[in-house]
Amino acid sequence: MTSTEPIVSVRNVSKYYDDNCVLERLSLDVESGSICTIVGASGCGKSTFLRMLLSQERPSRGSLLVDGKPIAAEPTPDRGIVFQRYSVFSHLTVEENLLLVREVETAPMAARLFGVARRQALEDIEETLEKIGLTGARKQFPSQLSGGMQQRLAIAQTLLKRPKILLLDEPFGALDPGIRSDMHELLKGIWQENLMTVFMVTHDISEAFKLGTRLLVFDKRRYDPHDSSAYGATVTYDLDLYKQQSTANLPAIESIVGGHRAVEKGKKP
Ligand SMILES: Nc1ncnc2c1ncn2[C@@H]1O[C@H](COP(=O)(O)OP(=O)(O)OP(=O)(O)O)[C@@H](O)[C@H]1O
Ligand SMILES: [Mg+2]
Repeated sequence: MTSTEPIVSVRNVSKYYDDNCVLERLSLDVESGSICTIVGASGCGKSTFLRMLLSQERPSRGSLLVDGKPIAAEPTPDRGIVFQRYSVFSHLTVEENLLLVREVETAPMAARLFGVARRQALEDIEETLEKIGLTGARKQFPSQLSGGMQQRLAIAQTLLKRPKILLLDEPFGALDPGIRSDMHELLKGIWQENLMTVFMVTHDISEAFKLGTRLLVFDKRRYDPHDSSAYGATVTYDLDLYKQQSTANLPAIESIVGGHRAVEKGKKP
C-alpha cells in the first residue's frame, strides 16, 4: 500500500431502511491520519454512516473499503466507537471496567485473565489511564466521576483496543463548555500520538472546524415534497480544513445543521 492510498473508500453507497432512503450515492476517499468531522441535520444519517464504518450496518448499495479491501462483515478491533453517553458498568471501578475490555477481548469465554496476561493488561491500562488523565481515579466507581471523567473512561475503553479508525458519535455533546475544551486537547493529543484516522459527528459547527482536518456536511441534494423519505443525504460540502479556513460557507452550513430544510419537509428539527 502506498501512503497516498485511502484508508477508507466509500463507493457509491446508499442506505435504505425499508422504503426510507437515508443515504444516497455517497462517495468519499479518506486519507490515513485525517480527522473527518461530520455535521448535518438531525436524522440525516450521520450515525448510520458511522455504524456502517463499524460494520454494525451494511450498505444497501455500493461498497465500503478499508485499506483497499472490502470492509469486514463484523466489527473488528481496528475500528472503535465512542457514543455520546457511554454505558460503563456501575458496579465496577474505573480499573475494573478497563480490565474487562481486555478480558473480553483476550479470553472471551472465561472473561478472566491470569498471570502474565493479567500483568500485561494492567500495564496497558496504567498507560491508558495516564494518557487520559484518570490515574488518580482508578479505584473509583463511575457514579463517583464527573461527566467529563466518565467520557474519558469511555474513550479509554475504546483506546485500549488500539483502533486504527476511531469513530466518535457526538462524544462531547453532553459536556460543559470548559470540559469540552479540555476534551478537544485530549483528543488532538491522542490522535497525534496514535496516528489514527478519526470520524467525528458533532452538532457544534465551531467544534467541527476546530478539530477537523476535513469537514463533511451531510444533506439531501433533492427532495420529493410528497415523500420526504424518497431521497437520502449525501456529502454536499467537503472542506479541506488544512487549506481552507474560510467562513464563506458558514451561513449555508449553519442552515443545514440547524435542520431548516428538514423542518420545511416536515421532518424532526
Ligand atoms: N435501525 C433502524 N431501522 C430503521 N430506521 C432507522 C434505523 N436506524 C436509523 N433509522 C432511520 O434512519 C434515519 C437516520 O438516522 P440516524 O440516526 O443515522 O440520523 P443522525 O443523522 O445520526 O441523527 P441525529 O443527529 O439526531 O443523531 C432516521 O430517519 C432514522 O429514523
Ligand atoms: Mg446520530
